[in-house]
This record gives sequence, C-alpha cells and structure tokens, in this order.
Amino acid sequence: MMDTNIDRGVDLSVLDRILAARERVTTADLSPLLQEILAGYGYLPPKVLLELGRRTGIPASQIYGVATFYEQFHLEPHGRHKIRCCRGTACHVKGGHNMHQTISRELALADGQTTPDMRFTFETVACLGTCFLAPVVMVDNDYYGNMTPAQVREVLDGYK
Ligand code: FES
Repeated sequence: MMDTNIDRGVDLSVLDRILAARERVTTADLSPLLQEILAGYGYLPPKVLLELGRRTGIPASQIYGVATFYEQFHLEPHGRHKIRCCRGTACHVKGGHNMHQTISRELALADGQTTPDMRFTFETVACLGTCFLAPVVMVDNDYYGNMTPAQVREVLDGYK
C-alpha cells in the first residue's frame, strides 16, 4: 500500500480515537475496525491502513486483503452520489448494458471511477436484488427500474 496524494492531508486523530476505544486488536477485529475507519473518513485512506498495521502489528497484507475483499470498502474517496448499475443476468437480457454505456458516456466515467468534481461515483454490481425491475440503476438509496437510456439521462440530470 502506498501513500497517495489524496492521503497527504489525512488526519490520524480519527484512527487514534478508534484504537483508544479498544484494549487490543486482533485480525478478528479487522472487519468492524475497517467499518469504523470507513465511517470516520468516508473511505479507507491507505495512510491510515498502514498506520493501523504499524500500531496493531497486523500485517499490511492482511489489512489490505480485507479492505479490498468486501464491496463496501473503498480506498479512495467517493463522490456525493453513488450510481450503481446492475450487470446481472436479468438486467443484461433487458438491455442493462445500454444503461451502463449511457452512464459511462454521460459522466465520462469507467466502472469504479469518480468525477473530478466529486459529484458522482459510478460502479457496476452483480445484482441489486430487484430483478423484477430490470434493468435497474440505483442512485444513493433510490432504485430506478425498467430503465431506458433516455430515462437514465433524466435521472442523472436530477442529481446534477
Ligand atoms: S440482475 Fe439486475 S437487479 Fe438482479
């Protein structure tokens, strides 16, 4: 894990507070710890993960393994609005790939990227759990079903 430019201004006081609330930390605590770090920083800054390893003795490779395994964790800041486009089978057969292309084109983003103004983060997911609404796009906590490319553009405009 490397210290990145976005990490330079990261303040370790949130990590101080999280670790101060625990007597000791083992690898079994990693997932809840990373959730707290995510809640505190809005993402998992690599600088904080390295410091977590240094202070707890947990190898950075293990911390990084958990941090990159679960979809809920991300190592870079996300935009104010998270757009998730389903790439599951039910959505795919109903034209989900067109929604993916429309979002990518409208926002000039590939899967996993964030707009430079930090407004949107775009992700594709295996299934949003609402296959009956296929094809489905989700923005923050709102589901948009039976989408067409034109409707997707309207939805995006609503968040600009
Ligand atoms: S396959 Fe798209 S919501 Fe399940």
